[in-house]
Amino acid sequence: MNTSYQLDVDKIRRDFPTLKREVNSGASLVYLDNAATSLRPIQVMAQITRFYRDHNSNIHRGVHTLSVEATEMFENIRSKVGKFINAEDSREVIFTRGTTESINLVVNSWGRKFLKPNDEVIISELEHHSNIVPWQMLRDSIGIKLKYIPMLDNGHLDMDVAESMINSKTKIVSITAVSNALGTIIPIEKVISLAKKQGALVLVDCAQSVPHLKVDVQSLGADFMAFSAHKMLGPTGVGVLWGKFDILDSMDPFLGGGDMILTVNMDHSTWAEIPSKFEAGTPNIGGVIGFGAAIDYLNDIGMENIRAHEVDLTDYALQKMIDVPGITIFGPNLAKERGGVISFALENVHPHDIGQILDDNGVAVRAGHHCAQPVMNALGVPATVRASFYIYNTREDIDALVNGLSVTTDLFGVKS
Ligand code: ALA
Repeated sequence: MNTSYQLDVDKIRRDFPTLKREVNSGASLVYLDNAATSLRPIQVMAQITRFYRDHNSNIHRGVHTLSVEATEMFENIRSKVGKFINAEDSREVIFTRGTTESINLVVNSWGRKFLKPNDEVIISELEHHSNIVPWQMLRDSIGIKLKYIPMLDNGHLDMDVAESMINSKTKIVSITAVSNALGTIIPIEKVISLAKKQGALVLVDCAQSVPHLKVDVQSLGADFMAFSAHKMLGPTGVGVLWGKFDILDSMDPFLGGGDMILTVNMDHSTWAEIPSKFEAGTPNIGGVIGFGAAIDYLNDIGMENIRAHEVDLTDYALQKMIDVPGITIFGPNLAKERGGVISFALENVHPHDIGQILDDNGVAVRAGHHCAQPVMNALGVPATVRASFYIYNTREDIDALVNGLSVTTDLFGVKS
């Protein structure tokens, strides 16, 4: 184990009761599906229970004690999230249902207001569907041009094409920081600088980066950033859109309803200030409060330590997996060029069969297109198997994955 960082994995594992599960009549669970969703520690579950048990109330509405308490708890988490990503102003933190909704909010509230037919929007071939489909829907509705920076065979973005594609017609570049399908770390600083030279805005899909790497929105220089609580120890159904104050302020609301208005008349309504303008209806109050405990947990460990642990695991996994007969590992060769994600295939074995046999042996991975079909098309495969790591994973977990792959290759007669 690399000892140049501080991370007590044994202690961390005790906070995750799910890791004590056995599956398929006695196999100990090895959870390697963290890019889909992380596990949750007891501290997060306890905080959610505490809210519903002791403070249950709606927010921003009541004058009674519970409502005041709930509002304060909820708004404290907005500040906590703002600090976590180093936002200048906590009002720049909008709570949504997840990364998907955050991106849809920008597409509809910013895109519909400020984009005109033939304006160019640049995304990449490495995007998750949630950063493709909303833009396609906008294209089909108002006639923007949607362009894709291609992926190279090694899973990196083709930066030469990016340089020529981002030009004076570009109005926004919407790009992932880390590919969910391959783990590739995208040089977003470079992409942001190319966009800024052309006066274009930048939205960064940080669903796979904020849980694993230190992200500082002020030094990054993007205009919007989207991420989800459930990939970083928090509950499902909670996400964040961070945006620069003036840009959010200039946008129209996304959803209409309670909490997002200033006045409502029979013939017209006016909008509340941000962040309320973008938070129509009762939010996931308990979820947001649980998310606060997740951020505390990550802060206690330290994002630099988390990154170092994942690089160590990824490096170890790449070294071990390369010896599995018939394996193809997709994406960058080096652990430092990836998040803690390894996507692979075995010759003549369908990824779903691999996933099934691994599950029989207790190892949970994702098999499929990972909501990134353009990546699969570029690789020329229908699907891959994806193992993805987090703070509670160990080298023993990777040994279990490799053992499960040996069972698979033996069963299918795959030779090296
Ligand atoms: N976006 C999630 C994944 O990559 C669901 O698996």
